[in-house]
Amino acid sequence: MKRGYPTSPSNSSASGPPKSRLKYTPEGEADFSNDFVQRVADHYSARTNQTLEEREASPIIHLKKLNNWIKSVLVQQYTTKGDAVLDLACGKGGDLIKWDKAKAGYYVGIDIAEGSMEDCRTRYNGDADHHQRRKKFTFPARLICGDCFELQLDEVLADDAPFDIVSCQFALHYSWSTEARARRALANISALLRPGGTFIGTMPDANVIIKKLREAEGLAYGNSVYWVRFEEEFSQKKFKSSSPYGIKYYFHLEDAVDCPEWIVPFHVFKALAEEYEFDLIFVKNNHEFVLENMKKPENVELMRRLGALGDGNQDLSTLSPDEWEVAYLYLAFVLKKRGQPDRMPVKSKRDKGKMHLEKEDIMYISSEV
Ligand SMILES: C[S@@+](CC[C@H](N)C(=O)[O-])C[C@H]1O[C@@H](n2cnc3c(N)ncnc32)[C@H](O)[C@@H]1O
Repeated sequence: MKRGYPTSPSNSSASGPPKSRLKYTPEGEADFSNDFVQRVADHYSARTNQTLEEREASPIIHLKKLNNWIKSVLVQQYTTKGDAVLDLACGKGGDLIKWDKAKAGYYVGIDIAEGSMEDCRTRYNGDADHHQRRKKFTFPARLICGDCFELQLDEVLADDAPFDIVSCQFALHYSWSTEARARRALANISALLRPGGTFIGTMPDANVIIKKLREAEGLAYGNSVYWVRFEEEFSQKKFKSSSPYGIKYYFHLEDAVDCPEWIVPFHVFKALAEEYEFDLIFVKNNHEFVLENMKKPENVELMRRLGALGDGNQDLSTLSPDEWEVAYLYLAFVLKKRGQPDRMPVKSKRDKGKMHLEKEDIMYISSEV
């Protein structure tokens, strides 16, 4: 084997169907989808905040900085001062500073991973931010722990909506395990966004993931920092257009991800989004997104500050070819909710959040039936 990625389930920590918590559908067919949801939640929950030293020593530190740059460019470009923001699958709140810089007026973050929500809370309070300067944020916030691709969020957030902008960064593919979850994700976003509101996101680029699978000798490929592995059921490397959901693969990214993910064929995503009142503004592979946005001087300066390519000065380290290959696995998109803007005054929404969040302020919602 040329590379360090597994070729059989026994080699992987993210391998084989789980044996526990098997749920049966009303029709009597075994349904493993909730086990995988739990596995994703457990994986992210277990990843605790890193110290500055640990973060800088990461084998993908420049990729992390590049991804932050991509998200910053999206946030800056599509946020207006005072906007109410819904950050779906917000993780540890790594984008809080971006929303602050964009002068957001209100922030609601939701994630399924309990550990990440606690990290997000402390980061918001400015208590435990190891790798960013400690600061208080200027907008009030609310944090919710739950499955945002299962819960009916328009009920949960009835008093907070409508939002001006919804962001779902590096996470929407976790909704694509079943059609019901993919629809729930889009129905939630559509119900919570105001007419004319914006939905920004990043997720794996299915075209690239499948192109690389077809170029690979077996069912796995990767480089020194990542691997992707499909299971035997996809040994023909063919995917029926009639079954665009539940196409599972395992993804490992050093120091970041190790869990099952699902292919999101973008044309299906776009068509489904149209059903939920969205129009596509753009979709771009992250390579194209970087190259295009680096034509603007302000983005070049931001890239220098974030250090994804080194600082061009003393710091001669830069993004490795292997990290750049990982960037190619992702795309960025922007959708707009149809209808005429009808902005609610921000002040009414600000009352729902707090400027300091105690543990009890995190709302935990179970989607168990
Ligand atoms: C790669 S991380 C991205 C986190 C954050 N958006 C960022 O860009 O830093 C993916 C996140 O999706 C969250 N996630 C996965 N499935 C979810 C679900 N069903 N509901 C809510 N969050 C989910 C994970 O817990 C994790 O925090």
